[in-house]
This record gives sequence, C-alpha cells and structure tokens, in this order.
Amino acid sequence: MSTNKNKLLVAGNWKMNNSLEEAVSLSKDITGYIHENPEILQKADFLICPSHVHLAWVNTVIADTPVMLGGQDCSQDSNGAHTGDVSAEMLSDLGCGMVILGHSERRQDHKEQDALIVEKVIKAHEQGIKTVICVGETLEQRESGKAFDVVLAQLEGSIPVGAKAEDVVVAYEPVWAIGTGKVASPEDVEAIHNVIADYLKEKLDNGDAIRILYGGSVKPDNAGDLSRIDHVHGFLVGGASLKAGSFVGIAQAIEE
Ligand code: PGA
Repeated sequence: MSTNKNKLLVAGNWKMNNSLEEAVSLSKDITGYIHENPEILQKADFLICPSHVHLAWVNTVIADTPVMLGGQDCSQDSNGAHTGDVSAEMLSDLGCGMVILGHSERRQDHKEQDALIVEKVIKAHEQGIKTVICVGETLEQRESGKAFDVVLAQLEGSIPVGAKAEDVVVAYEPVWAIGTGKVASPEDVEAIHNVIADYLKEKLDNGDAIRILYGGSVKPDNAGDLSRIDHVHGFLVGGASLKAGSFVGIAQAIEE
C-alpha cells in the first residue's frame, strides 16, 4: 500500500451492515466509479472493510482494482481453539492488506483494552497486514479535559514497541462523533492531530510518515474542510461508506 501522505486514505468501515448481495453491489459501484474517474486516485487511496463473512466475495470484485481490502478486527492468537475468532492469517488469505483494530465499538461492546489490542496489532504485522489503530475519547472524557491524555495513553498502549511506521495508520475517532452527525470542530481536530503527530514522530522511527485519519460523521459535505487541516491524512468512514456516491464523494471533496 502506498504510504504517500500527499494522498489521503479514504477508508470505509462497513461495520455489521449489508447483505451479501448489497456488499457485492456496493463494491462493484465503488470500483466502477473509480475505473471511470481514474483522476480521483491522484487525491486518494481507497480501503473498504466489509464484514468478515463477506470478505471473500468482495475480494473477487476488487482484487484487480486499486481498492484495498481490510478486516474490521482479528484475533490475538495465531490459530486453534478460539470459537468465533478470525486470525490475521485468515484475513491475509482472503486478500486483506489492512485491518482496523481497537475501534471504539470493539472497546465498548467487547471490553477490548489496549493490552489486548496491542497483541492483535502484533499478530497482524506478523502476517504482513497493516493496522488502522483507532483511538479517541468519550464525551465525558472530553468534557473533563482529558481528551489528550486518553488518546496518548491509547497510542502508548496499543502501538507495539518497535513497530514499523509503514505498518501503522492511526485513526482518531472521538467516540461522541461516531454515527451521531456531530463532527469535532476543525480547531479540536487540528489540536489533537498535532499531538498525535508529535507523539508518533518521537516514538517510532520514521514516525512522521504515519498517516493519521480522522473519523466520526465524515461526509462529502465536511470532508473538504477537514482535509485542509494539518496532519489529517485521510478519513475512517462508517455511515457514509455504505453508499458508493457518498464514499467516493468524500474523496472528491478533498482539497488539494
Ligand atoms: P461514522 O463512523 O462515519 O458513521 O461516524 C465512523 C467509524 O466508526 O469508523
């Protein structure tokens, strides 16, 4: 995958949505649009992350296109007696070059904590899968002035020591902005992305090459303004990634 930060990464997190038929047709619509409008690839790289059970099918649609395939989670274990889990190797077999880890919905619904997330990140990297590591504060944490501390602690806890910068993408997603239609203000996004960028630069060799995505109610309408903010290198998109028009519309809105 390109780590060219001049291009933004537009990543679609489909979460637990779409029938198989919808997933296949959405992938066809996205790749079809990019095929007909190849100039959009000068602005953005594209990643889509369907449900695990749809990966193989979606892969048949996007395998020979510029759109990358990713998982939404993987196990911290390599294989064995772990009912219901999916290993990084399985994701790799299905064509995934990336995986989202530590999403706030996994942190909330499955009580995932940094100590577990870092193990998952290590497993993915061992399989040559790059990781989109998600961090972000809750509304309560923001209102009590703890947003920076929370995000820095999550970065410290979930990025393995010695990780290669080229394997890592960070997604800053304030929990209160996910699926709510509320977007963090440009000033807040800029301030926290700056803090994340400084941390990555100091912590990892070549850490300033790491892309930092913003996530939380990103749409074509707000992507242009967000894309102008320093240290915003792309978007992790939920709701608006479920329609080809709004997903590619986000890339179209990016200001060069
Ligand atoms: P949203 O989700 O775009 O629907 O707010 C973003 C995410 O959870 O990654």
